[in-house]
Amino acid sequence: MTKDIKAQPAPEHLVSKFKLQTSKEVDFFLPVNKGSNAKVGHAKELTAETPKLFQPLEITPGFTLSNRIGVSPMCTYSAPSSGSEIGNPTQFHQTHYGSFALRGSGLIIVESTAVAPNGRLSPEDVGIWNDEQAKAWRSVVQFAHSQGVKIGIQLGHGGRKASGIPPADHLQFGIDSSLGGWSDVKGAVVAPSALPFNPDPEVNLQGYVTPTALTTDQVEETVELFGAAAKRAYEIAGFDFVEIHGAHGYLINEFLSASSNKRTDQYGGSFENRIRFLLEIVDAVKSETHPTFLRISADELTPSDPDAWTIEDSVKLAHVLVERGGVHVIDVSSGANNPHAERRPSHQGFQVPYAKALKAAVGDKIQIAAVGGFVDGEFANKVVENGEADIVLVGKTLLKNPGLPWVWADQLGVKINVGRPLEWPYYHPAWKF
Ligand SMILES: Cc1cc2nc3c(=O)[nH]c(=O)nc-3n(C[C@H](O)[C@H](O)[C@H](O)COP(=O)(O)O)c2cc1C
Repeated sequence: MTKDIKAQPAPEHLVSKFKLQTSKEVDFFLPVNKGSNAKVGHAKELTAETPKLFQPLEITPGFTLSNRIGVSPMCTYSAPSSGSEIGNPTQFHQTHYGSFALRGSGLIIVESTAVAPNGRLSPEDVGIWNDEQAKAWRSVVQFAHSQGVKIGIQLGHGGRKASGIPPADHLQFGIDSSLGGWSDVKGAVVAPSALPFNPDPEVNLQGYVTPTALTTDQVEETVELFGAAAKRAYEIAGFDFVEIHGAHGYLINEFLSASSNKRTDQYGGSFENRIRFLLEIVDAVKSETHPTFLRISADELTPSDPDAWTIEDSVKLAHVLVERGGVHVIDVSSGANNPHAERRPSHQGFQVPYAKALKAAVGDKIQIAAVGGFVDGEFANKVVENGEADIVLVGKTLLKNPGLPWVWADQLGVKINVGRPLEWPYYHPAWKF
């Protein structure tokens, strides 16, 4: 004889305990972690002993990172280079950035994204010079938000290094329209001055293009391009912050350095004039409701060139930024504006001394991000514990393993939230293998 068992409605307290909650950020079913600390990357039990790397960081009132490990901006050169979808992020970008969003990073900085078509580093760069591109970023942003991860976009203009050959040879030389570039189009590759990145024919086999110097009016128009891109990033795409790309020998860096800026108008000559373009961009980009990040090459690594930008210049700039406001995080990289630069060392934390010098200069007025060669959680934590930087950004090690923050959390004895569909076999009491 079989008993007629009727399913009973579960009591309310069990429903609220066990029913999976879906994210309100996306328009598909996606289980999210519960509770006020349930942001991905957030330490499950936060105490005074929690290593600082896994403690939250408030950047501005109401804008708090769940931990101090971030995805450094990294170009992927994987966007359509022509047609109506030119510069749009695709399913690839969704998957790529989504993999970081699920696995413990406290913030993601999306790769250098062009504010104008001629500012792309290669034809396959992503862009945000039109509304369609900004709309295409929206689902990447929404997915990060579904995990409680802060996501920003790096706004860039390649200046004299634009129109480079895409990934295989990593932008080593300018390409013309037969390869989808624009270095043969008069006036399309621009810079503060008509100086190619590398005039040395020995090194410059195919030739970096001799750029056209921007007129004063064009400089002002370029400032507006950054402002308009930031507006799209916030109002259409929904990004949490913008990072201004002022590093690596691209347009803003070219203005900063006297080695690449020989202008005689108000944007060249003195230190105050050379930083003017950047400061106007900061003003154009800044928002009442979102923090602004700025990446700089803290030193041009070219002591042989008296015109090269140095760490002393960066410290001077940082003081100006503190004074004026508008920048909340300085992301400290180095090099790439001078063909005669010394090779960057590649050991772990090789740029930390620059971050430390800037941290000493700005105190708690601006947060400092260190980047370069991080592979080990103990080491990264020490940089933050020692007050050398507030944030650790990781590039290549995260490319290899998007779950690096989770690995570092294990290493440092911290349990962190990761995407709900991924974490339950690790943290569920019933699953002890
Ligand atoms: C594939 C790749 C692409 C990169 N693209 C960018 C970029 O778009 N913007 C930027 O500021 N830096 C870029 N970088 C530099 C990284 O953000 C980072 O500063 C550098 O790789 C050092 O950190 P890592 O040793 O952890 O990789 C790129 C680096 C790599 C490896």
